[in-house]
Amino acid sequence: MTTPTHAAPPAGSPAEAGPAALLSVRDLAMAFPGRRSATGRRGAPVRAVDGVSFDLAAGETLGLVGESGCGKSTTGRMLVRLLEPTSGSVVFDGRDVTRLSQRALRPLRRDVQMVFQDPHSSLNPRQTVSRIISDPLLVQGWSAADARRRAAELMELVGLIPEHIDRYPHEFSGGQAQRIGIARSLATGPRLIVADEPVSALDVSVQAQIVNLMERLREELGLSYVFIAHDLSVVKRVSDRVAVMYLGRIVEIGAKRDLYDAPQHPYTRALLSAVPLPDPAAERRRERIVLLGDPPSPAAPPPGCSFHPRCPKAQEVCRTERPLLRIAASREVACHFPGD
Ligand SMILES: Nc1ncnc2c1ncn2[C@@H]1O[C@H](COP(=O)(O)OP(=O)(O)OP(=O)(O)O)[C@@H](O)[C@H]1O
Ligand code: SF4
Ligand SMILES: [Mg+2]
Repeated sequence: MTTPTHAAPPAGSPAEAGPAALLSVRDLAMAFPGRRSATGRRGAPVRAVDGVSFDLAAGETLGLVGESGCGKSTTGRMLVRLLEPTSGSVVFDGRDVTRLSQRALRPLRRDVQMVFQDPHSSLNPRQTVSRIISDPLLVQGWSAADARRRAAELMELVGLIPEHIDRYPHEFSGGQAQRIGIARSLATGPRLIVADEPVSALDVSVQAQIVNLMERLREELGLSYVFIAHDLSVVKRVSDRVAVMYLGRIVEIGAKRDLYDAPQHPYTRALLSAVPLPDPAAERRRERIVLLGDPPSPAAPPPGCSFHPRCPKAQEVCRTERPLLRIAASREVACHFPGD
């Protein structure tokens, strides 16, 4: 079990605001077994995700950011049930997907899909595009002919040439291969897509094209996204709300504008201070907040606020009392001293 993350139930969430959330995540946690040492003793569990809660409304994009190893991919994989959480719940459209049997997961597989970072390594090199895109449909019981027809339509939808349907992944560029991955994710007509760093393996110019494509698809198909990324500029572009993770927990979550214009958590402030500004004069004036050291291991998180060893604002209480997520300046922040 994890300790509570919120001082009160998540506030300002779509669920509280009125219409039911499409996705409602509560206290989600994943502790991987610790590594065995040379003597055979197992080390402390790796608390990759340690109590993550958020809501997502239909049609919304939530950006999930944070340094390498903070638990973004583990969270994403639990949302689509590629990983079984240690505890917590993931309620999609009223059903707790963490409790579904393999058989009952079938409709979920239709509604919730994932797009991965490296398009070439996530596509089977021995399958044609037709087979790759059709596969989720064949699993759902479609005939081969109907699935192939649908695959050709999807290629067109994502900007590929349908006549290339019998080619293999290596015959496509990185950007085109990611379009194949996106077409595959759309095959079953999902409502939610969890995209794990979908553009970070691509050239910058190609990144913009894929981001544009994902935005257009969201509008045309009424999709919702959980968009995982390192790049805060990309996240700013695509997200309605943003969640910042540190060592397995969300430390700040709120509307994109609130978070980018006036970050409240020292970690968010540090991350944003490293994003280059388009205006060179503003870039020269801007103060960089350099974080010392690397994030601690999730197998041995520091007591109190897990950010305290690196936090420029840390005080005595931070070393002993873990801050819960509380409302501050119209978003939720886990910090004893939010703000400037
Ligand atoms: N199968 C596993 N067994 C043990 N530890 C794991 C496993 N998968 C991930 N971890 C650990 O869990 C933590 C979170 O990993 P995760 O891949 O979710 O981070 P991430 O935020 O996606 O990082 P990145 O930005 O590098 O992709 C890391 O410390 C990682 O080493
Ligand atoms: S609780 Fe303390 S250590 Fe943690 S982020 Fe806030 S000021 Fe820094
Ligand atoms: Mg990752």
